[in-house]
Amino acid sequence: MTQTARNVASFQKALFFVYICFLILNVYMNIGIIGSGTMGAGIAQVAATHGNQVIVVDSNQTALQKAEAGLLVTLEKLSAKGKLSAERAAQIAGNISWNGSPDSLSDADLVIEAIVENLEVKQQLFANLEGIVRESCILASNTSSLSITSIASVCRKPERVVGLHFFNPAALMELVEIVPALQTNAAVTDTAREIIDSWNKKTVVAKDTPGFIVNRIARPFYSESIRLYEEGIADIATIDYALRTYGGFKMGAFELMDLIGHDVNYTVNETVCRSFYYDQKYTPSFAQKRLVEARWHGRKSGRGFYNYAENAVQPAANTDEALCRSIAERVIVMLIHEAAHALYLNIASRGDIELAMTKGVNYPKGLLQWGNEWGTAKVAAKLDELYEWYHEDRYRCSPLLRKAELL
Ligand SMILES: NC(=O)c1ccc[n+]([C@@H]2O[C@H](COP(=O)([O-])OP(=O)(O)OC[C@H]3O[C@@H](n4cnc5c(N)ncnc54)[C@H](O)[C@@H]3O)[C@@H](O)[C@H]2O)c1
Repeated sequence: MTQTARNVASFQKALFFVYICFLILNVYMNIGIIGSGTMGAGIAQVAATHGNQVIVVDSNQTALQKAEAGLLVTLEKLSAKGKLSAERAAQIAGNISWNGSPDSLSDADLVIEAIVENLEVKQQLFANLEGIVRESCILASNTSSLSITSIASVCRKPERVVGLHFFNPAALMELVEIVPALQTNAAVTDTAREIIDSWNKKTVVAKDTPGFIVNRIARPFYSESIRLYEEGIADIATIDYALRTYGGFKMGAFELMDLIGHDVNYTVNETVCRSFYYDQKYTPSFAQKRLVEARWHGRKSGRGFYNYAENAVQPAANTDEALCRSIAERVIVMLIHEAAHALYLNIASRGDIELAMTKGVNYPKGLLQWGNEWGTAKVAAKLDELYEWYHEDRYRCSPLLRKAELL
């Protein structure tokens, strides 16, 4: 047996011990969170609510203090609304300690990193962490766009690294994508999934590819809607009305982008496009780029596609049924296609793709089920019609839609 094989075997043994403690003895874990921003603070709340001892680390003392104060306010509000007893709120707050240095993570069973989205900074952090944590400790990244494989590549034990992609707000959103790197030990993926499941989350396993499941499959919801608008086929109010009324979506694409913030949504569009070697399907739009340049970031800045000023008159939708049905159909066809192609490329299992899109972005039904209800031949025919009209690669049809009668 080589030294590497011996190391992997002893790591597996240690990990198995942690796993058994967790499953059978129901021992709560020591969780480390690095980064006390939007995501780190939310994940800390979730872990502490489920009885774990949590240490939150941040290099910025002010950010730590702000996160601690923010959590106390959240817990007070929940308590005032009767959703938590004051005693329980105090218990949750007491499960978390706030610390300036990663050195405090030496006893952690699982460390979740939620720092700035920068590969070099994350790699440096992971490499340093290995000198601090136990041999059996799982190291996870909450990155939404970076490769878990490249983060793991700088580690001495890359087999212990995994992606745990929570959604914002982490305390409320049910979905977590589990993303094994190329190097991840299968037992690490299983243990990570068990732990996150025990925090009352719905977990799905995604291949380490850009956008994982949700941020990849949801792209056409935004991009096809913007395309319809840029071409003048309909205005934003009509497209939003069509998606709500005939698509069953809770929000239209423009309302949703205004809520997410164009600085965030445009960056995801650009990152996904670059990561897919500039595949035309993911090309970002000038309409949204200009909003970002104008700092019209959406609701938070008072102006996005819509104007949120107090006396602003909102545009009225054209409620013509034929027009609205065709708008909703075109966007949904593009979404079904993206889901089918992800299935074709084994990005995730059928069940996980359906769960991810209904829990991660609250779609009214699973896209593959939608495709089956409409019929794969009809979806393929609609894509072919668009391709015939535009002759753009963006509308090419996945082989899966042609070869399978059912998705
Ligand atoms: N915000 C979202 O909607 C969202 C959703 C899913 C995933 N993510 C991912 O989660 C991560 C964090 O995002 P966020 O929105 O919470 O960011 P944020 O800017 O709100 O918080 C990041 C925190 O990390 C700290 N930090 C930066 N570098 C550090 C270092 N080297 N060591 C210790 N602390 C450091 C900062 O001081 C800051 O408090 C990113 O990778 C992001 O892609 C974000």
